[in-house]
Amino acid sequence: METIKDNLLKELAKADTWEAVEKIRVAFLGRQGIITNLNKNVDMRAMNTDTRKAWGRNFNTLKTWAEDAVAAAKANAKITVKANVDLTLPPAPSSLGSVHPISLVQIEIEQIFQGMGFTVGSGIHVESEYYNFSALNIPDDHPAREMQDTFWLTNGQVLRTHTSNMQVRMLQNYGAPLKAIFPGRCFRYEAVDASHENTFYQVEGIMVDHNISIANLIAIMRELLSSVFHQNITVRLRPGYFPFVEPGFELDCQCLICKGHGCKTCKNSGWIELLPCGMIHPKVLAEGKINPDEYTGFAFGLGLTRLAMMKYNIPEIRLFNSGEIDFLKQFVPAIA
Ligand code: DAH
Repeated sequence: METIKDNLLKELAKADTWEAVEKIRVAFLGRQGIITNLNKNVDMRAMNTDTRKAWGRNFNTLKTWAEDAVAAAKANAKITVKANVDLTLPPAPSSLGSVHPISLVQIEIEQIFQGMGFTVGSGIHVESEYYNFSALNIPDDHPAREMQDTFWLTNGQVLRTHTSNMQVRMLQNYGAPLKAIFPGRCFRYEAVDASHENTFYQVEGIMVDHNISIANLIAIMRELLSSVFHQNITVRLRPGYFPFVEPGFELDCQCLICKGHGCKTCKNSGWIELLPCGMIHPKVLAEGKINPDEYTGFAFGLGLTRLAMMKYNIPEIRLFNSGEIDFLKQFVPAIA
């Protein structure tokens, strides 16, 4: 650990731009970083309790120290700005922009659901702990409530971690029966890489009425996916745990590439994991002022960003929020 400390300090002393410090951060603290790997490569089971405790303490001290050192170096580093502006050039020809790929998929999904009689709602980003967690039967000690997963504001509110925050709000506002989807932006405290972003999109949906069952859930999901992928889709449900649904499921669709025979895309399983869903927990209905003895309903949460990646074959999640014109202009508007 002392050697790692020395090496990190030496590297930081050499780095004089923000980008250089960021590279060092990734090398030491990223998913495959030297410090991260240190903990992965140690065999905890071979240690006795005291050694394990001491190891954990030392490791956490090192990690916190390294994070602070990197943050301090970033604060001191120069931000490099490429000022390449020639004010004598004539203005560029004006052109209409294109629709962002997330918006394209969102619009398509909204149209599919509107065709089935669903209302489209929106969502708020700064949310109370109650609507983001407690109202959804997510207990106080649930890991999603930790700083590691969630952006907390100093006033005790959170940047919503999922579109599920709107479930109880919608139920309280509109009552039952209700068929609604509510797409939008969500935030998590993530280490960003090719498939993880701190800012991403989901579409949440609920359907509440008399006698709503899992059969309705499957039918609506099959209709949605068949419309999105323009072919008949076979789906299956596996058990999944989310505190706000009971029973909860992971819905898979049969691999579109190999039709279920097994290929690289589906890791030879024949199935692709698509979305979590389930029957709305009676406690959640009750929070929404709906009588669970009278009404039942289903809910689902679809990863819109992930769906856009699948649909357009985009391998890198960071492109979505990058503002890269070359990326964005590949998507022509699908609507007039
Ligand atoms: N909110 C969950 C998440 O972001 C996803 C989810 C799971 C939504 C099950 C649902 C559901 O509506 O029924 O991880």
